[in-house]
Amino acid sequence: MGDVVGEEAAGWLADRIGQLRDEHELDWIVVNAENGAVTGPNPMDGFGMTVEIVDTLLEAGVDAITGGNHSWDGPDVDKILAYPQMVRPLNLDEERGQGLLTLRGNTTLTVINLLSPTAELPGMAAPKPHPLWPSWQEITAEHDLTGPTVIDLHGESPWEKASFAAALDGQASAVVGTHTHDPTQRGHVLPGGTGYVTELGMTGRLGHTGGGFDPMHFVAKMRGEDYTALPAYTLAKGPLALGAVILDIDPAGATTAITRIA
Ligand SMILES: [Fe+2]
Ligand SMILES: [Fe+2]
Repeated sequence: MGDVVGEEAAGWLADRIGQLRDEHELDWIVVNAENGAVTGPNPMDGFGMTVEIVDTLLEAGVDAITGGNHSWDGPDVDKILAYPQMVRPLNLDEERGQGLLTLRGNTTLTVINLLSPTAELPGMAAPKPHPLWPSWQEITAEHDLTGPTVIDLHGESPWEKASFAAALDGQASAVVGTHTHDPTQRGHVLPGGTGYVTELGMTGRLGHTGGGFDPMHFVAKMRGEDYTALPAYTLAKGPLALGAVILDIDPAGATTAITRIA
């Protein structure tokens, strides 16, 4: 499930988790919550998670929470990165938290979060991400990724996401994109068995550009104005939307089906 935008959306999603798990017989539920709350006045680093948001999602049954360029926002960051279910981007110099988590139960699933340098914003609180492909080569050298492995690739560019997925085809079960918030319709199973979705889409209120919030900061940036002088983010006011796909993954780790749910 793609970037949860705001506390209301987190609560709305939490209320649906049990039903979604039963209806679709879900083994594991992974949610990107990097925009779970407006955590501060600075619009470029004040959009992360709070302990309340994380607890709401975990108590509802979410198995793992991923992030992105906003994983370091807000006053609760040390507590949030310490949750055993929290997965922050792996390709950084960062001691806190973990970028790789293996869920174990009737089935296993390894969850990896990667942050593209293209998702880096000026003044961002997050540590600087390393380039994706060298990072991936290091990860595969250090970790045994046999078995189902899903990568939340948090990045700006559809071509970069697609190229990354194609380059590692057969090495991971799926690469699913987050960060740009507007969902892409199709998913593809690549020849080697890696499932690929360019963008899961945000989970939150529609309206404006579909990102889940008022785009005034991005408009100001586009115009060359000082967006940091603007007030904190305000959320969109349209209907609530779910950005999510279901991945069917066989025991050997190949994706066999991708189904978008709304
Ligand atoms: Fe986001
Ligand atoms: Fe992001």
